[in-house]
Amino acid sequence: MATRPLKFGPACRKHLVIVTSNRAIRTLVILGCGTMGTAILKGIIPSQDSSLGAQKADLLPTRFMAYVRRPESTDAIRSKLPREALDSTASVHVNDNRAAVLEADVILLAYQPHLYKSLLEESRICAALKGKPIILVLAGFYPREIERHLGEIAHKESKNMSEFYAFSVIRAMPNVASAVQTSSTVLEMDPPPHLKDTIATAHAIFSCVGTVFTPSRAYFRICTTLTGSTPAFFAMAIDGLVDGAVAFGLTHTEATQMATTTMRATADLITSGKSNNDLNRQCACVYGWTPQGRRVLEKAQTRDVWMQALDATVSG
Ligand SMILES: NC(=O)c1ccc[n+]([C@@H]2O[C@H](COP(=O)([O-])OP(=O)(O)OC[C@H]3O[C@@H](n4cnc5c(N)ncnc54)[C@H](OP(=O)(O)O)[C@@H]3O)[C@@H](O)[C@H]2O)c1
Repeated sequence: MATRPLKFGPACRKHLVIVTSNRAIRTLVILGCGTMGTAILKGIIPSQDSSLGAQKADLLPTRFMAYVRRPESTDAIRSKLPREALDSTASVHVNDNRAAVLEADVILLAYQPHLYKSLLEESRICAALKGKPIILVLAGFYPREIERHLGEIAHKESKNMSEFYAFSVIRAMPNVASAVQTSSTVLEMDPPPHLKDTIATAHAIFSCVGTVFTPSRAYFRICTTLTGSTPAFFAMAIDGLVDGAVAFGLTHTEATQMATTTMRATADLITSGKSNNDLNRQCACVYGWTPQGRRVLEKAQTRDVWMQALDATVSG
């Protein structure tokens, strides 16, 4: 007897979510679901149905609640998420952050950095956050700083000193490429022992939007600079090369496609083990005038300039 192929339309997917979720429902709440939060949802929701390794699937949340400030933002987020997920596992809400936190098993804090203090001071949100793992993606903040801030509010509210230590924050720093699921995310790896499970969950979440790097805390700043700031640096190099090519008659689009394709390929070659010297020698053989171009870059001390740019960014 011929077997009929299984169909996975929207209705079946809904069913599939229920069938595959023998594991406990775990709710991820994203407070401040803007560019970054939406990119994470876009990466993680399709992973629900895919053939993930069982270990990773067990670590991922199964329900998602996104919180924003303005009603119009909800439509923008909804339009970017799979419709079948909106009918079942994901929902978008306006404000009421406290209600969100009460529902959460894991919280992703993704407000604009300047807003976080006032939002955490919102009425009774702090009490709701107590004991819940918080993943911080705010650039420029330390987990202990947020824990201390929450602890001070909780202590003030309850007058109980033990409340001061009731908060658990880890930090992860994805980069702008999360939007195209190729983030280089830096995840702090040496948090207090009781946060090991949260780290594992964060690792699973961010590996849905790219590659996760796990340096120890001492190197967090240099790693986040190398992954977070360099897209802006590389874009400058592309910009100059494209303008140079346009001056010789290429269209901007053609030149951009060629330069970006070549940059991606260069990264692949370096990853596969080619050294700077190998690349230099081979390009010089095949394209006769490469050394002249290199000489211009060397005269301008480009290598030093890159190092200085990195140094200035890390040192702030
Ligand atoms: N974007 C990146 O590439 C990137 C990379 C690494 C780290 N980060 C960090 O990620 C965080 C978010 O960045 P982003 O680019 O995603 O910013 P964003 O697009 O401006 O998103 C911030 C979100 O916070 C929401 N929000 C503000 N007040 C709120 C409130 N009272 N209640 C609920 N939601 C509220 C905003 O809602 P409305 O939309 O309704 O205004 C918006 O959706 C920042 O701290 C940034 O440092 C971003």
